[in-house]
This record gives sequence, structure tokens and C-alpha cells, in this order.
Amino acid sequence: MSLIVRDATLEDAEEILAIYNYAAINTTAVWTDGPADLDSRRAWIRARQEAGYPVLVATKGRDVVGFASFGDFRPFPGYRHTVENSVYVDERHHRLGIGRGLLAALIDRANAMNKHAMIAGIDAANAGSIGLHGSLGFVEVARMPEVGCKFGRWLDLVFMQKRLASEVRP
Ligand SMILES: CC(C)(COP(=O)(O)OP(=O)(O)OC[C@H]1O[C@@H](n2cnc3c(N)ncnc32)[C@H](O)[C@@H]1OP(=O)(O)O)[C@@H](O)C(=O)NCCC(=O)NCCS
Repeated sequence: MSLIVRDATLEDAEEILAIYNYAAINTTAVWTDGPADLDSRRAWIRARQEAGYPVLVATKGRDVVGFASFGDFRPFPGYRHTVENSVYVDERHHRLGIGRGLLAALIDRANAMNKHAMIAGIDAANAGSIGLHGSLGFVEVARMPEVGCKFGRWLDLVFMQKRLASEVRP
């Protein structure tokens, strides 16, 4: 079954929520203390899209098997050419190229929006995400020890960055 990457709609919120909550409850991919609810995921999709940012889903047949997005890196005007991404794949479908397909599509969208740099903030122990971003040209630019915690332990944050194709002037 072929993989399709398309813009998300609010009807995708439930499947996006399930993928997100698996990571929120079981992993240190996202440093929250519990699951999100459907209203907050719907509000997140709406807010991203109203701000002109993409929310993408990867589908196989009728199933959403991953999602990805980017938004402002930091909420100050001077960061307007830089975005921060997020990519999540249903854990039953890992290592099948879905994360790469989503991230490549995000990079295309960011280039089309004339963005200059894309950042990923990643738990230092998240080998999958570090490997995925490295495979598409992101490089580690910062490593911050013990700036987070979850499951009763300190977490280190790695920032990876990719310079985009745009020649936008600062
Ligand atoms: C990180 C994540 C999105 C990767 O998605 P995926 O669909 O499994 O990744 P892909 O199959 O597209 O892998 C692309 C490349 O990334 C690298 N990669 C992926 N998983 C990896 C792993 N566990 N260890 C090392 N490298 C890995 C490899 O270079 C891989 O290419 P290859 O399979 O040809 O060797 C997925 O593991 C995930 O959803 N994890 C939980 C949520 C998460 O951590 N999100 C990122 C938050 S920063």
C-alpha cells in the first residue's frame, strides 16, 4: 500500500491524538506528563493552519500512520525566518520510511515559505529522531544537559538544525 502525505484536516485529529498520546505516555519524545485530549489537538491543528503553517499526515489506505508540522521556533519577530518541527510515526510502522517522507515534505513546505532554517529539539536518547534528522542533513548545533525531566530522571536536549534553500535576506 503506497504512502500518501497530505495536509491534515480536523477529521484527522483523533488519529493524530492516538499517535501523539502513545509517545506522550510511553516515551521521552515529548516532555509532557500525560496524554492530551481531542479538543487540544483540534485547537493545535486549527492554530497551526490559521498561522499559515502546515500540519501534514501520512496515510496508508484509510489509516493515518504519522503526522508532522512546524511552527515558530521562538515567539519573537527576529526569529521569523526559523521554524521548529515535530514528526511522529505510529510505533507499529516505524522504520518504513514514513518519518523520512514526512520530514522531506516539511522541508519542501518550509522552502516554499522562504524559511531560512529548520530546528528540531530532540531528547538526546532519541536515537530514532536523531538518525532521521541526520539522514536529511540536520546537524547537531547544541546539547543542553539536564534541562528536562520525565519518568523521574533528567533529560538532555539536543538541537539539530538544517539550513534551508531559501536566499531570503535577514
Ligand atoms: C523518530 C521517528 C519519527 C522516525 O520515524 P520512522 O518512520 O521510524 O523513520 P524512517 O523509517 O523514515 O527512517 C529514516 C531514517 O532515519 C534513521 N532512523 C530511523 N529510526 C532510527 C533508529 N531507531 N535508530 C537509528 N536511526 C534511525 C535511519 O537513518 C533511517 O533510514 P534507514 O531506515 O534507511 O536506515 C519515529 O521513530 C517516531 O515517531 N518516534 C516517536 C516520536 C518521536 O520521537 N518524534 C520525534 C520527536 S523529536
